[in-house]
Amino acid sequence: MSFQVESFDTATWADEVARRFASRVGPGRRLCLATGGTVGPLYRRITDLGAAGIFLLDEFGGLPLGDAGRCETMIRRDLLDHLADSPCLVVPDVDAPDPVSAARRFGEMVCEGGIDFAVVGLGANGHIGMNEPGSKPDTTTRVVDLAPSTTENAASYGATTAPTWGITIGMAELMAATEVWLVVTGRHKREILDRALTGAIGPHIPATYLREHPNCTLFADTAAFG
Ligand code: F6R
Repeated sequence: MSFQVESFDTATWADEVARRFASRVGPGRRLCLATGGTVGPLYRRITDLGAAGIFLLDEFGGLPLGDAGRCETMIRRDLLDHLADSPCLVVPDVDAPDPVSAARRFGEMVCEGGIDFAVVGLGANGHIGMNEPGSKPDTTTRVVDLAPSTTENAASYGATTAPTWGITIGMAELMAATEVWLVVTGRHKREILDRALTGAIGPHIPATYLREHPNCTLFADTAAFG
């Protein structure tokens, strides 16, 4: 088991993490990527995925295609749109008539070859992806009800309506990933990060599970940690 911590000055955090990210991509690599405020500055510094494929970590349900709050919109804007080659992006089909079946199909695609490298953020309530508090470590890819703070996140991303559900890759698939990076920045994340790092491991803060991952690194800025 190896949970490592790296902390950088806020001004250099995105450059430092982007430099390390470059060694994690390449042909056939299966990435699982979060979206949102933390990863935006990091993704904007990435210029090449070396023909890696991407699984979107999660997606809000009930938002129109192209809505500013959709995770797909964010990953296209922050990462894909400025890459020279467009990588294969696999997203959970939240627009399908039967989202439960769509989540199952998405989970099967993730599990087929597994995840080589995942980048996940930390929710204000300790969630990972949309694995909200209460999620067990063996929960798989599924439709989930969102916590109120996660619905608020969508509003902060510019969502035109307030989503109440989503599809997320489960804790089980993330814990089975070969490597996971937890990225956390900002003073507002300091307290929840401290609880994720020092509190009892359990479903009240799903991020605590990552401390049991065999190869997980926390990349924090000094506002959030240290
Ligand atoms: C989004 C996702 C979420 C975010 C988390 C932090 O794809 O999986 O778990 O990573 O809510 O969001 P920000 O970075 O916007 O604070």
